[in-house]
Amino acid sequence: MSIVQDWGNSMMANATTDPFWRAKVASELKRNPHLASEINDTCSKCHAPIAHYEITEVQEGEITLFGDNGVLNLDLALNPTHEFYNEALNGVSCTVCHQITDDDSLGTLEGFSGEYKINNSKITYGQFSNIETQQMINNTGYTPAYSAHVSDSALCATCHNLKTPFVDNTGEIIPQTEADYFPEQMPYTEWENSDFDDSGSTPQSCQDCHMPKTTAKLSTKPGNLAPKDGFAKHHLAGANTTMLTLLKDNALQLDVISSDLDSGIERARTMLKSAVNIEIVSTSVNNGILEARVKLANNSGHKTPTAYPSRRMWLHFKVTYTSKLPTLTDHATLFKG
Ligand code: HEC
Ligand code: HEC
Ligand code: HEC
Ligand code: HEC
Repeated sequence: MSIVQDWGNSMMANATTDPFWRAKVASELKRNPHLASEINDTCSKCHAPIAHYEITEVQEGEITLFGDNGVLNLDLALNPTHEFYNEALNGVSCTVCHQITDDDSLGTLEGFSGEYKINNSKITYGQFSNIETQQMINNTGYTPAYSAHVSDSALCATCHNLKTPFVDNTGEIIPQTEADYFPEQMPYTEWENSDFDDSGSTPQSCQDCHMPKTTAKLSTKPGNLAPKDGFAKHHLAGANTTMLTLLKDNALQLDVISSDLDSGIERARTMLKSAVNIEIVSTSVNNGILEARVKLANNSGHKTPTAYPSRRMWLHFKVTYTSKLPTLTDHATLFKG
């Protein structure tokens, strides 16, 4: 299953270890302590979905991230104190994406912002219809089943389109309905309005680009299982080389499980390189003024950079004039009023 294990080297596997996310949740809690339940609930829906589901749906309780009752709390000997610590640290794991149910809300405002529905019958949906189910039932208790929605961008939209409520100066929540919430990150909507949408001129789903296809044997059991075409490599690479590097360099302190973050970093660099085509359209020197026209074509399936609003992209280029040394005439032109 090494192909699916690639997931472990992505930011999705590290959504809860991510110290930037933890710091941001902590700062939100400090600024708006009266909204603590809302903040704990919202910020864990997508970043710690298993712990969120177990505590809020199964136990029908309230999730707290930090402090004595916190899912992420460690005691003085650095031992976890909460029963769902490990589940929280698994980030967006296998059983999250694969148990999201095909539901009318997928791809709509109602299903965005972490409002995915997890089925409660231990069915894991997959992309293939001709499947052996018994091995998996016997070994894991989950029943694999085919469902087309797994291959649809709307599956990703549940967490990759996020509208959040916001507060005024006094800390009161302003917008009354979800439609008026602030669009914090909207890659799915950007994709829907791009050429890459299912009905666009160059249709490609989130999965097509972020989970490239290969031919692979899914399991060693039963022994006669044939390799399958179109199996999705679980790269889930984005653009966040900074955080993956930080996680790698502080793996022990941050309780990072993955041991091969280098391959995740490498994949993110490859994604970034494929994001934009840079073309120099023309260069000229007129009246001593160097002019270079550069055209950028966005090849990513959404805005680039997309998603978390702090992302920035710089275009760094240098124009050099090498054909000949400047002559006196050139200087004269340069100084002309
Ligand atoms: C609907 C799902 C969802 C919810 C709810 C959510 N996030 Fe996120 N968050 C994401 C996704 C997806 C990304 C990654 C986007 C990217 O990489 O650009 C992300 C990225 C981040 C990052 C950047 C991490 C990094 O390493 O660069 C921070 C910080 C963050 N979220 C904080 C929060 C806080 C604070 C809350 C609660 C107020 C929250 N998130 C709620 C989905 C969510
Ligand atoms: C981001 C969500 C996500 C996560 C996390 C995830 N998967 Fe997947 N997985 C998918 C999607 C989407 C497909 C199908 C892709 C396609 O059709 O293009 C898939 C396909 C598969 C398949 C082939 C399905 C079939 O019908 O036989 C297997 C097996 C699988 N995943 C196992 C895993 C395991 C094991 C993990 C955890 C290590 C995991 N997945 C984590 C989204 C996810
Ligand atoms: C349960 C919520 C959830 C679902 C469903 C989900 N994601 Fe994510 N995804 C996240 C979160 C949270 C992060 C960011 C973690 C962080 O940066 O701290 C993330 C990060 C990513 C990144 C990496 C971004 C980076 O900065 O490098 C990619 C790429 C990605 N997701 C693609 C997908 C695709 C494709 C699907 C659908 C097959 C999908 N995700 C489904 C929650 C989800
Ligand atoms: C045509 C290919 C393509 C498609 C389709 C596509 N992406 Fe991307 N995606 C990229 C590339 C390339 C990057 C890296 C450049 C960037 O960040 O814009 C990227 C980056 C990302 C990031 C990381 C942003 C960051 O700053 O860390 C997220 C999250 C993401 N995509 C989610 C999605 C989701 C969700 C979909 C489907 C709605 C999707 N992508 C569809 C190619 C694609």
